[in-house]
Amino acid sequence: MIEIIEVTKRFQDKKTHVTALKHVTFTVEKGQVVGLLGENGAGKTTLLRTIATLLTPSEGRVCVSNYDTIKNADAIKKKIGVLFGGETGLYDRLTARENLEYFASLYGMNKHETKVRIDELAKMFGMRDYLNRRVGAFSKGMRQKVAIARAIIHNPEIILFDEPTTGLDITSSNVFRQLVHQLKREGKTIIFSSHIMEEVTMLCDTVAMMHKGELIHHDSLENLYKAEGTRDLNYIFMSKLVRGNEHYAS
Ligand SMILES: Nc1ncnc2c1ncn2[C@@H]1O[C@H](COP(=O)(O)OP(=O)(O)OP(=O)(O)O)[C@@H](O)[C@H]1O
Ligand SMILES: [Mg+2]
Repeated sequence: MIEIIEVTKRFQDKKTHVTALKHVTFTVEKGQVVGLLGENGAGKTTLLRTIATLLTPSEGRVCVSNYDTIKNADAIKKKIGVLFGGETGLYDRLTARENLEYFASLYGMNKHETKVRIDELAKMFGMRDYLNRRVGAFSKGMRQKVAIARAIIHNPEIILFDEPTTGLDITSSNVFRQLVHQLKREGKTIIFSSHIMEEVTMLCDTVAMMHKGELIHHDSLENLYKAEGTRDLNYIFMSKLVRGNEHYAS
């Protein structure tokens, strides 16, 4: 379970002062898949980074599996897998396999476990043909697949994906979707941000919508459809943003 309690995050230096998260509160139950929506700059990455213990809240707190992100960051890091958009964290000079072996070793996995897991992930993502090639020469999509594999190499119970399908072709996006279905069957808890409504409607149990640092909605897709009288998530999202902006204007 993930509990986000009254979280505010301010970025401050001599020149800038940005409040990226404003009193964000919501809970994600074990086994849920949550889609995180919001315009550019809404605070999605900041929220995911805060849950991942990479940022500390300016106010409020976050608990992951009953561990506090400030007091028990190390315990949380073992339980979560993270992938942040644009940053694959891979080493160009190593092959895909060597990269995965390296990250597996950081989690204390032994050689046999690592081999079995790499074979499993390579099969799932269709990476077997290029597992032994250096990552430096990979296309964006190939890289992203290795990065996703890296994020879940240690079989974490909680997974945070920031725009996981950016740069992936249709086939690879479908592989990602199948992966989320499989992870869900395994009882994993997943939060992922996306600008692709279709992906969110296909994969998520609940949707969390961010707007200018505030959480403007968090509920099941079915409740949202009922409340809005339509199943068109794109339309619902846009109309919520308009209402959000009216709220700011008034
Ligand atoms: N390290 C930082 N220092 C200063 N400001 C930051 C920092 N990180 C994020 N911000 C600011 O916080 C706000 C939220 O940014 P964030 O990256 O969380 O948005 P996002 O919803 O992920 O957007 P996108 O869809 O473009 O990825 C933005 O105004 C951004 O400029
Ligand atoms: Mg972002």
